[in-house]
Amino acid sequence: MKNIVVFASGSGSNFQSIIDSISSGTLEATITGLITDRENIQSLDRAKFHNIPYSILSPTNFDYPQQYETKLFDVVNSYKADIIILAGYLKKIPNLIIEAYRNRILNIHPSLLPKYGGKGFYGKKVHEAVLNNGETVSGCTVHIVNEIYDDGPILGQTEVPVFDHDSTIDLAQRVLTEEHKLYPKVISEFLKTLF
Ligand code: GRF
Repeated sequence: MKNIVVFASGSGSNFQSIIDSISSGTLEATITGLITDRENIQSLDRAKFHNIPYSILSPTNFDYPQQYETKLFDVVNSYKADIIILAGYLKKIPNLIIEAYRNRILNIHPSLLPKYGGKGFYGKKVHEAVLNNGETVSGCTVHIVNEIYDDGPILGQTEVPVFDHDSTIDLAQRVLTEEHKLYPKVISEFLKTLF
């Protein structure tokens, strides 16, 4: 059984979809820890409810970046992570961790990368840009994380239609629904490729 460590900064609906996939048996893995950069987020409630160990590591509580990055690295290692899953984690992952877990960190992004990715494209900004550009198709992408935002090799994508009357919220919700199916599926396939 492989160990997953999840990083999240927000509601954690993707975190929940991973928990649910493990419970239903469609994803064979153990979530050994959740790491967040802030308190009072729904992701933490989900971890507590499911008895998943968690750590709150805010960069503001440490000498930044060195002490913070070392602490983060120590915590990931203490959870004995086989892979790291970014699920709406808004801080940049330190190079120290990217190097140590090379090709073992996955992220989900709410667009069809390489479109609408990179620094500044997060949350509703992605969907606003898609709508402003008159796209007729959007979607979500799971990719491997490297040192550049939203740049690593793509492991899976799902398309959704964009309608003329869509609000940012409509589109975000349509994409998120697909994220919840895509991410556990790609994680499951990815884990099978690891020794
Ligand atoms: C998702 O849209 C994901 O694509 C992006 O951050 C959002 C996280 O949502 N990386 P949630 O916290 O999993 O609900």
